Amino acid sequence: MKPTTLADLSQLKKEKRKFATITAYDASFAHLFAEQGINVMLIGDSLGMTVQGFDSTLPVTVEDISYHTRNVRAGAPHSFLIADMPFMSYATPEQSFDNAAALMRSGANMVKIEGGDWLCDTVKMLTERAVPVCGHLGLTPQSVNVLGGYKVQGRDETSAQKLFNDAIALEKAGIQLLVLECVPTGLAQRVTEALEIPVIGIGAGNMTDGQILVMHDALGITARLPKFAKDFLKETGNVRDAVRLYIEQVESGIYPDQAHSFN
Ligand code: KIV
Repeated sequence: MKPTTLADLSQLKKEKRKFATITAYDASFAHLFAEQGINVMLIGDSLGMTVQGFDSTLPVTVEDISYHTRNVRAGAPHSFLIADMPFMSYATPEQSFDNAAALMRSGANMVKIEGGDWLCDTVKMLTERAVPVCGHLGLTPQSVNVLGGYKVQGRDETSAQKLFNDAIALEKAGIQLLVLECVPTGLAQRVTEALEIPVIGIGAGNMTDGQILVMHDALGITARLPKFAKDFLKETGNVRDAVRLYIEQVESGIYPDQAHSFN
């Protein structure tokens, strides 16, 4: 089987074909997701909440993400894997080198970092050193203590324009994918149309190039589902069909609908 690459994702954007991605933390689920047709997975620091039981992503370490990345890689040898750089692991560009290297050595194809234009030097330095970088804007859970909670971002014109400018700056600096979390659909559409790189949304409406869900949300394991998330297992009754339904509804633009978006 041919490994999935960034070029494949760029081609999907050019052809205006939407794609589904999901978080994965272990080999068994990673294998099942790949088998059903999900070619891009994120080893998210959401594992701090979904796997480790903390109330935020802040306690997650580089060692934790490395461990789970190795497990996911073992289950999905051909998938494109994005590993989250956890809280404070990229506070300076220098610090980000060793930490990104550890994640790439564990089997990641790309690292993801949360934040705006202050990260441009880090993005440039990492990409120049052969580490592809995914940006993450909007609701950035590592900043929960600054944001004052898990809230929709970019609702007013000033913060929307700041997010838009950050996206442009990060693309110029070299990011090759962007995750937009919990932003109004119109803003996500504006960013998606302005950027050449693929944009993946979560709680960002159905105008982005791709979608991502935390696997525990997509399978209804999370106790209180966020507004944008959908329990696909409830509709299908088994995990494989739930994953297939998620993929089909993303590819056809059925999910997320208005009820699962912010306007
Ligand atoms: O950690 C994570 O799972 C994420 C997604 C919510 C995009 O960053």
